[in-house]
Amino acid sequence: MSPDEILAELRARQASDLPTHGGRTLAYVYDSGLAQADEIARQAVGMYASTNGLDPTAFPSLLSMEADLVAFARSILHGGDEVVGTVTSGGTESILLAVQTARDAAGVDRPAMVVPSTIHAAFAKAAHYFGVELVTVPVGPGHRADVAAMTETIDRLGERVVLVAASTPSYAHGVIDPIEELAAVTRARGLRFHVDACIGGWILPWMPDAPPWDFAVPGVTSLSVDLHKYAYTPKGVSLLLHADAALRRPQFFAHADWPGYTMLNSTMQSTKSGGPLAAAWAVVQHIGADGYRDLVRRTIDGTNALADGVRGIEHLHLVEEPETSLVVIGTDDAVDVFTLSDLMLDSGWFVQPQMRFGDEPANLHLTMSAATAESVPDFLEALRAAVTEAAEAGPIRIDPMLAQAAAELDPDTLDDEAFDGLLALAGLAGDGGQVAVPERLGPVNALVDIAPPRVREALMIAFLDRLTR
Ligand SMILES: Cc1ncc(COP(=O)(O)O)c(C=O)c1O
Repeated sequence: MSPDEILAELRARQASDLPTHGGRTLAYVYDSGLAQADEIARQAVGMYASTNGLDPTAFPSLLSMEADLVAFARSILHGGDEVVGTVTSGGTESILLAVQTARDAAGVDRPAMVVPSTIHAAFAKAAHYFGVELVTVPVGPGHRADVAAMTETIDRLGERVVLVAASTPSYAHGVIDPIEELAAVTRARGLRFHVDACIGGWILPWMPDAPPWDFAVPGVTSLSVDLHKYAYTPKGVSLLLHADAALRRPQFFAHADWPGYTMLNSTMQSTKSGGPLAAAWAVVQHIGADGYRDLVRRTIDGTNALADGVRGIEHLHLVEEPETSLVVIGTDDAVDVFTLSDLMLDSGWFVQPQMRFGDEPANLHLTMSAATAESVPDFLEALRAAVTEAAEAGPIRIDPMLAQAAAELDPDTLDDEAFDGLLALAGLAGDGGQVAVPERLGPVNALVDIAPPRVREALMIAFLDRLTR
């Protein structure tokens, strides 16, 4: 293919994706609205795409850019010179490494970590990968970590506890956990305490009324902050920071006992492109602290305007008052959240449905970014129209037999054939063992929503398996 044909083909394929810019996609992407920052990032990715972070001595420029990013983070997160950091590929990798490091530092039998029930799913993944038991403690009022209940759990598990973690804010509710109180508990017991600031860590430093949450709090031993979120850098960059080098050491991996080069890694990846790191360095230099202050002000003003608008719409409520840039919207019985998200997509806005959890019904998650802030009035107009239409459409009706089947499935005994049957019933079956993603996801979401989490997981895995055949 010629370069022109290839670019035309890429554009054609991209047409079916959600837009990454323009502020209408309120999950997955973060748009500063700064065209120059995007352009400099693209150039930096291109310049560094073929470099390899495998060997920092071969590409010392990567090491220097990592050091600059860590120094910038230190300056905004109240970290002293003793704070050290690593650039990783994303929030999940930062969290995986924090858990692995804590596990290896402790070296105990049956390691466990104690977290609030709102902790990000990446901790469950870390538990699964590294054989650390995830002990979740139900949150207290306001969906905030319950310090007394977590303390009780920590003391009950005793020496098995290798890590305690909390979020600033939690993804699902946008709520900041009580970091000072938790840090007092972990510090008194000599435990590691990780603050998951993946989504809030580049917002909170410029929110003057934020409670203390970062390295200003004695007892915080590690912290994750994603640059590919509110630092508005291209995807593939997060920072994992440790309060000192000794806390970080078990994160590093070396292997010399084979005939090839001595493997020496600070992250899970070995060969890795320097492109995302260079782009992050470029964007952070370009926007700078004053630029971020301005972007945060616009984002928070937009969040407040959006929350105000939601308060005035019949059938809707805020699940929690927004504390940073996340808004979570609940509906009453007249409006189905899955219909609402489909209707918003029809009018060009992507909002993310969150499935029911425990006693809590499904809701909608909105991630505000600076570019969305400008179009809040348009968003609210579309939302009002969608709510009216969803209320007229009424609740999604699920075939009672299908509902019963979904609720009673035993995920451990299901075979491929049963999954194919279920996917067909759910309207997801395509040709030849493939799956087809329907135009309207509402009915599928509504069905998945009534299944218990373990069944949901099994269904989703079967779905992905067929999607990628
Ligand atoms: C609080 C929190 N932690 C961790 C993550 C995981 O980050 P990533 O998707 O970059 O792996 C997210 C992503 O939204 C998050 O909001």
